[in-house]
Amino acid sequence: MRNLTSLIAMCVLVAGFCLADYLVLQAHYAYYHMRASFANNGVYNRQAMVVSAHPIATEIGRTVLASGGNAFDAAVAVNFALAVVYPQAGNIGGGGFMVYRLASGEAGTLDFRERAPMAATADMYLDEAGSVNKRASLDGHLAVGVPGSVAGMTAMHDRFGSIAWPELITPAIRLAFDGFALTHKGAKMLNLYRDAFMRLNRGKTAFVGESKWQRGDLLQQKDLAVTLRRIMANKNAGFYEGETARFLVEEMEAGGGIITVEDLRAYAPIWRAPIRFSYRGHDVITMPPPSSGGVALAQLLAATEAFPISHYGHNTDNYIHFLVEMERRVYADRATYLGDPDYVDVPVERLVSRDYINQRMADIEVLKKTDSNLVGAGHVAVMESAETTHFSIVDAAGNAVAITTTLNGNFGSKVVVQNAGFLLNNEMDDFAIKEGHANQFGLLGGHANAIGPGKRMLSSMTPTIIEKDGKLKLVLGTPGGSTIITTIYQTLLNIIDFNMTAQEAVNARKFHSQWQPDTIMFEKGTPDIFDIIGLRARGHKLMTWPYFGFELGRVEAILVHDDGRLEGAADFMRGLDDRAAGF
Ligand code: DON
Repeated sequence: MRNLTSLIAMCVLVAGFCLADYLVLQAHYAYYHMRASFANNGVYNRQAMVVSAHPIATEIGRTVLASGGNAFDAAVAVNFALAVVYPQAGNIGGGGFMVYRLASGEAGTLDFRERAPMAATADMYLDEAGSVNKRASLDGHLAVGVPGSVAGMTAMHDRFGSIAWPELITPAIRLAFDGFALTHKGAKMLNLYRDAFMRLNRGKTAFVGESKWQRGDLLQQKDLAVTLRRIMANKNAGFYEGETARFLVEEMEAGGGIITVEDLRAYAPIWRAPIRFSYRGHDVITMPPPSSGGVALAQLLAATEAFPISHYGHNTDNYIHFLVEMERRVYADRATYLGDPDYVDVPVERLVSRDYINQRMADIEVLKKTDSNLVGAGHVAVMESAETTHFSIVDAAGNAVAITTTLNGNFGSKVVVQNAGFLLNNEMDDFAIKEGHANQFGLLGGHANAIGPGKRMLSSMTPTIIEKDGKLKLVLGTPGGSTIITTIYQTLLNIIDFNMTAQEAVNARKFHSQWQPDTIMFEKGTPDIFDIIGLRARGHKLMTWPYFGFELGRVEAILVHDDGRLEGAADFMRGLDDRAAGF
């Protein structure tokens, strides 16, 4: 009798938990649909468009375009503005990639990724016993790669700019000097990292106020304004030489970092041929190594062409299963083969060839997941959000620019160069700091992405441009660390296979899988309960995306509709501050 009572009590308890779980899920659905109904329309204009993660930066870019500047001019202005108003990712102390397509159809990329300092060594984050010193590649001076952003902006402007450089930097200088009103999210992020700023900096920084920041507070960055003035006067040399370089090296020496004057002087961005391939009648132009994004996207889309995914239905268990199975294999290749092509042989052609992809995907089964356990499990190691930012621009002449830029983690290493007022990246964590050790995104790597002096760390950033019938169709990119690739992939499928508008494609709930860890991560509110059952039946392990509960990627896209209208789609469902504007 007593056993029966316990059994009934247990059943009631389990049923109660299931019901609670179900109700929470339904609440997330309801919340998602409410947000989506506010955010369902992109911004439509006829001539030009800017989409970025901050309303001030978007407006500055739009003004440059409206005054006759081209997409590259606007990109310079937006980039420097983001370094002021969006310091968690906008930067002059980090690096990034640009993919461009001129109105003539000519396309290319610029790599202004950070490099390892010349004193860097393969085992610099290991202790004497060979164990990883976990925080050293993430926090503080040793985590910093040689920044590439200012060199990137200079190279871009030298080649394509049409408006005088000082005009493009002036808005950022004003914002830094006079200050700007923090948004709710901006204030919240600074508060979240307040202790880290205090712990990792010698002196006071502009980011730590007398008390916690509130929405509407004025953030002034006077040291940054002076640094930007030097960059305005001397372009590259205003950062990599003279006073700014001296302050940066002094900061390194004071904090145990290893970047030298020579490292700064030797930094150069690289123009690289894009990765190009076709997908269901669309031509994709994207970023080659040292980004893994272009290769991975090419592999994923080549594999996807073999499956009738639109018949499976959007975000159904069948759809998710096939995408995840492809992703599993592609991320395993990433961990093995991808690195800086100037230091290791990356077999790009082979990896993206149809023969290889067909053979690689041949063992995907319909009703069963493949076991990822080929190597020791990686794990998503840090419980903090990370940031990067993307902006997309199309000008009135039809030139398009997609730039993804980052400090890596939120506010990078959290180190602010004293007297120069800018944040330094923590991009060194993107190297495989030890074989089998997962980085902050849970990514594994080996020899190809081992640390080497002067080497660029492997990235997932995937700024991408699509053309159709020789005409510009789509410009997009996103932050999200390892999830960048799968976010871009799903956004493209949403538009190409499911005929969504750009805004619908951006808003749509996303999921992510990367071989290791062997799980599928979902944004809250997805998938549907029946799809959960279908995926579990195939053996998949499911997890809800843990960071801030509700965000996977943050795509900023511009879609050119068939009637010629530009649709700017900012991800203000996930980002809140993100804006599209055009004319
Ligand atoms: O280059 C990369 O792949 C990473 N450093 C990007 C970091 C990132 O996207 C963080 N943002 N959410």
